[in-house]
Amino acid sequence: MDLRATLYHTNRRLREFFEDQWFDRTRHVRTGGDMSLAQAGIAAASARDSEFYVPARPAHIREALRAIPVTDASRYTYIDLGSGKGRTLFVAAELPFRRILGVELSGRLHGIACGNVRSFRFRSRRGGQMEPIHGNAAEFLFPEGPLVLYLFNPFGASTMQQVLDHLEQSLEQDPRHTVVILLWPRCGDQVARVRGMRPVAKNEHHEIFEAHASLPGKPGKAAR
Ligand SMILES: C[S@@+](CC[C@H](N)C(=O)[O-])C[C@H]1O[C@@H](n2cnc3c(N)ncnc32)[C@H](O)[C@@H]1O
Repeated sequence: MDLRATLYHTNRRLREFFEDQWFDRTRHVRTGGDMSLAQAGIAAASARDSEFYVPARPAHIREALRAIPVTDASRYTYIDLGSGKGRTLFVAAELPFRRILGVELSGRLHGIACGNVRSFRFRSRRGGQMEPIHGNAAEFLFPEGPLVLYLFNPFGASTMQQVLDHLEQSLEQDPRHTVVILLWPRCGDQVARVRGMRPVAKNEHHEIFEAHASLPGKPGKAAR
């Protein structure tokens, strides 16, 4: 690596380090630091399709949230599938989401997220109740009401398909406006195959999809 590239990468790592520190200190939480699957206590069988904990940059989460096609967040439940120590829940709380949920497979990470929810304090908090949930996203049943789902590469294609099958069934039974955010997207093609889902925004960091309140051929309950 030449000097210019080394300086660029060092500068970027330093900026990210200070952004992490600043985020956690101003919110009284500890969401920084990667954690391997072994450290997170995720068993070998689950680990085959799971990614380890690495928190997203707050700037990238905010950028994606600014791009979602939602006019009144207070009607929506935000759900981070693979929520780790809970960082995105605290970014989502900058918007007035009705409920803010995080589903995490690792008991250890879930415990840290619960501690963070208890210690979280932020003057500009607007979001509603925060609920970290310990469980496998593949078995998670989506709550009623309009949804904003966020995923930052938590697992591979097979778990993703189980999640999307549940989502499709849920929207089939109860059509409602649903937004899917993929950070550093790897499985946009799978999301695009969900019935009624269409792409709405894309840049180098994220891809965003939405399904409307009425699926093709079915009347919807509520418009967004
Ligand atoms: C790349 S990290 C993303 C962390 C967080 N969402 C963020 O954006 O800062 C992926 C997380 O997904 C979790 N995970 C992996 N497989 C999972 C599964 N099947 N169900 C729920 N969580 C899972 C990992 O333990 C890890 O915390």
